[in-house]
Amino acid sequence: MRLAPMTAQHLGLVLGIENAAYEFPWSHGNFIDSLAAGHIAQVLCDPRGELLGYLVALPGYQEMHLLNLTVAPAAQGLGHARGMLAWLVARCAEQGAQQLWLEVRESNARALRVYRHFGFASIGTRKGYYPAPLGRREDAVVMGLPIGAEAAASTAPERPDALD
Ligand SMILES: CC(C)(COP(=O)(O)OP(=O)(O)OC[C@H]1O[C@@H](n2cnc3c(N)ncnc32)[C@H](O)[C@@H]1OP(=O)(O)O)[C@@H](O)C(=O)NCCC(=O)NCCS
Repeated sequence: MRLAPMTAQHLGLVLGIENAAYEFPWSHGNFIDSLAAGHIAQVLCDPRGELLGYLVALPGYQEMHLLNLTVAPAAQGLGHARGMLAWLVARCAEQGAQQLWLEVRESNARALRVYRHFGFASIGTRKGYYPAPLGRREDAVVMGLPIGAEAAASTAPERPDALD
C-alpha cells in the first residue's frame, strides 16, 4: 500500500468514500479548504492505484491535530487505519510534534476502539461538537497520543509492511 499527497484530482474519489463512510460527510469545499491551507493530506492507494482511504491533519506548534481519517467501507478491518496512523506518528516525530490530537463521535465505537488500541487516551469531551440526526448535536470524545521515540515504537503496526 502506498500513501501519496492528496490533490484536487483525487477529490471525486475521496468524496465518494467520504459520502459512503459518514452520515455527515465533509463537503468538497472542506477538502479544498484543507488543501489550500496546506494541511497534511494523504491518500492511501493499493498496488493497482485504487484509492482505499485518506487522512487530513493540521500541524500546529509542537502538536498535530488529526481532522479526518477514513477507510473505504470495503477496505475496513484490514489494518489500513493503523497503517495511516503509524505514518502520521512518524510525520509528527519528524516535525517535532509532541502530541497528536483528534475528536471522535462518542457513538463511533469502532473508531474509538481503533484509536484506543493504537494508544490514544481519552482526555475530555466537547459538548455538542457534531451535528446529529433531527437537528440534534452529539458530543465529541477528545483523544491524545504522546509522540516520541518510545510512543512511536509502542504504536507501530503489528505488520510493519502495511505501508511501504
Ligand atoms: C474507523 C476507521 C477509520 C477504522 O479503519 P480500519 O482500516 O477499518 O481500521 P483497522 O483495520 O486499522 O483496525 C480495525 C481492526 O482491524 C484489525 N487489524 C489490524 N491489522 C489487521 C490485518 N492485517 N488484518 C485484519 N485485521 C487487522 C485491528 O486490530 C483493528 O481491530 P481492533 O480495533 O480490535 O484493534 C474506519 O472504520 C472508517 O473509516 N470508518 C468510517 C469513518 C470514521 O468513522 N472515521 C473516524 C472518524 S474519527
